[in-house]
This record gives sequence, C-alpha cells and structure tokens, in this order.
Amino acid sequence: MEVITTVQEMQQKANALRAAGRTIALVPTMGFLHEGHLELMRAGKQNADNLVISIFVNPTQFGPGEDLDRYPRDTPGDLQKARDVGVDIVFLPSAPEMYPAGFQTRVQVQHLPQHLCGLSRPGHFDGVATVVTKLFNITKPHIAVFGQKDYQQLAVISRMVMDLDMDVQIIGVPIVREPDGLAMSSRNSYLSPEERRSALCLKKSIDLAHRMFQHGERRADSILEAVRTLVEDHPFTNIDYVALCDPVTLDNLKILKQENLLALAVRVGNTRLIDNSILREGSNP
Ligand code: PAF
Repeated sequence: MEVITTVQEMQQKANALRAAGRTIALVPTMGFLHEGHLELMRAGKQNADNLVISIFVNPTQFGPGEDLDRYPRDTPGDLQKARDVGVDIVFLPSAPEMYPAGFQTRVQVQHLPQHLCGLSRPGHFDGVATVVTKLFNITKPHIAVFGQKDYQQLAVISRMVMDLDMDVQIIGVPIVREPDGLAMSSRNSYLSPEERRSALCLKKSIDLAHRMFQHGERRADSILEAVRTLVEDHPFTNIDYVALCDPVTLDNLKILKQENLLALAVRVGNTRLIDNSILREGSNP
C-alpha cells in the first residue's frame, strides 16, 4: 500500500493508472476508520481495479464552534485497517496541501443543502462539495463510494456530479450498524457509556416509524410526534431535527407517499448523531 501526501504525486499516480487501463475507485474519508468505512472500501474494491482512499479532516466543512479541533484522529490505526482491507493507495494530504494560501473557490449546490443538516450547519455542504470536487480532480476516480448514513451528503454529491457533468459514478452503501442498532460513526467515540445507551433512541425511532408506516399511518405529523416523544424520553438528548421528506428533493412531506425519507439529527450530550431510513410501502427497516 502506498501513502501519498502531495496533490502532484497523487495526480501523477492516477494518470499512470489510467494510462495503464486501470479503473480507480475512491473512498473519501476523514479517518478514524470503522467498519462502516471498511464496507465502503470493500464496495470500492469490488467495482474497480485500484482502490484509493483519502484521509483528510476537511476544515471547510466544519462551522465555528463545531468539533474540528477535537475530531478523532488515529493515522497509524487507519493505515493498518486500510492495509488489511486491501487499499492500494492512501491519499493523506495536509490542510495547506489542500488549501494553499490564496485559495478562494467554493462549489455550491443550491437547494439540497437548504434542508435537514444544512439548516443548522450553514456552509457545511459547500465545504463537502468543494473538497469532494478537489479529491475527484486529484485522484481521478472512475467510481466514488459514499455511505448512505450521510444521506443528504450523498444526495448533494450525486446532484453535483450530475449538474457539473463529472465523469464519476457514485455508489451509495447502506448504513452499517453496531449489533444493538447504533449507526457506526467516528463521532460515537465521544459518547460516555450512559450517552451511548441513550443514543439507541435514533434506531428505536426508526423502528417505531417503520411500524407506524406499515400499520397504515400516512400523516407525517403523527409519526414525527411519536418519534420526538420517544427521543425526548431518553436522557441527554436534544433534537436538532426529525424530518419526513421526499428522498430526492428532501422537501418535507405532510402526507407520506410510497417512498419517504425519515432523517434525524439528535445531540446526545455534546455529540451530534445522525441516522436515517427509507419508509417504503411493503418493506421493513
Ligand atoms: O463523509 C465524510 O467523511 C466527509 O464528509 C467527506 C465525504 C470525506 C468529505 O470531507
């Protein structure tokens, strides 16, 4: 496995792979890798000849007061996990390498970020779209793999790729959960044991919403109310949002349709957790 830290070297390597007729899969990450990331990497490996991952905690997607400084990092552990899963190249740039002095460009998707996480994290998806565009230009992938846990991120990136005619196929990989249902996230490492127990309210809410939907409930308000009550019954929780929306436009729904996105963001202690699920007629979570 090669570790590359400069943009120039990574671009040269990607050009050489392409010239040799090899296909490239990219899994962009912010490190502190867990089983969810490893699933993305396995999907990448299955779909291309060479697997590149990037590890970069991207400052432009963190707002003031967010957890940029304390975001968990473990580069030696990440490199070992990447090696074990069969990654070919780790792109591991520094912040000045990605954002040198004078940097002044932003990629902005207009409407999708004005929902869900975008409401309480202004500018977050501009930061994501900008860094992902840069990572595509640097690693030149044929496919790029993202987790469905960050549903809105996947929607924003898919839209950006479509709108800007980027020649990259986007693959979304289902959420990977701990055995008790908690969606895997690097931020889970912030949780105390008591908060970790409370955090199960996200998956319990999803299960409750599915049960209500399968029993015929179609009023978004009544499902949202039940979900809010369930979350609020758990200690240390503070709801950022609970939403039922159209899975493509992310517009809020009043009456549910055949396919609906349930999305939640809940602060448990100081840790902001997100989760989501599609409520679809005739299917269980
Ligand atoms: O999902 C993440 O880890 C990040 O948002 C990403 C896609 C690597 C961009 O920094």
